[in-house]
Amino acid sequence: MTDTNTEQAIDLDSTDLFDIQRTMRAMRRLKPDPVPDELITKILEAGLCAPNGGNAQKWRFLVVKDAAIKKSVQPYYKRAYDEVQKPRHDAQAPKEPGPALDQHHRNEAAIEYLTDHFHEAPVWIVACAEGANSASAATGASVFPAVQNMLLAARALGLGATLTARHVTFREEVEKLLGLPDNVGSFAILPIGYPVGKFGPTRRTPVSDVAFLDSFDQPWPG
Ligand SMILES: Cc1cc2nc3c(=O)[nH]c(=O)nc-3n(C[C@H](O)[C@H](O)[C@H](O)COP(=O)(O)O)c2cc1C
Repeated sequence: MTDTNTEQAIDLDSTDLFDIQRTMRAMRRLKPDPVPDELITKILEAGLCAPNGGNAQKWRFLVVKDAAIKKSVQPYYKRAYDEVQKPRHDAQAPKEPGPALDQHHRNEAAIEYLTDHFHEAPVWIVACAEGANSASAATGASVFPAVQNMLLAARALGLGATLTARHVTFREEVEKLLGLPDNVGSFAILPIGYPVGKFGPTRRTPVSDVAFLDSFDQPWPG
């Protein structure tokens, strides 16, 4: 994995879409300071601009600010980490000491931090869908474009956020605590707040490793 942005100077205050995309990484350390409702409205409005199947707009968004509700959900988010995600991540960790292992430890520390402080984010947006098969993959395909729009909007407003979906390990319990109606399923929880650290470049493999021209034998030359 390389940092695809190191060659380019990044202006962290830029609101150019491409700069926003390049610096919209998961911001897992958040301040508890309140986020004005107007900004949450702007984020929701950005979400509603997203493509969705048949323009049916079956998405529903639960904004959670209530500390007691967030606190009741966090133990399930942590259990999913302890029981499912951490063992998987440990198994995938680089075996040799070096930069890749150091990066793995840094990443895991940030994931653990968010896990322990999940409920302390001042605002959550729970991205949901209404409908009979509300938890199906096909329905999710109509919710995640809105999620991405909201993450970009948060970044553009100087707010940190992370796409999280780990709660689905305990979907039934979490949805009950969130008080979702029976015909509404949840897909993601976005903890949002002012970031503790700075926005920075995303780390991704180069385009030529994952994009091809006309056949998979030929990497995209760009
Ligand atoms: C479907 C999905 C579910 C995710 N769930 C979680 C999660 O539960 N907790 C978390 O900390 N990050 C979660 N992430 C964020 C990814 O770990 C993150 O985007 C990836 O490691 C790349 O890091 P970056 O966005 O900081 O560049 C999720 C991302 C996706 C797409």
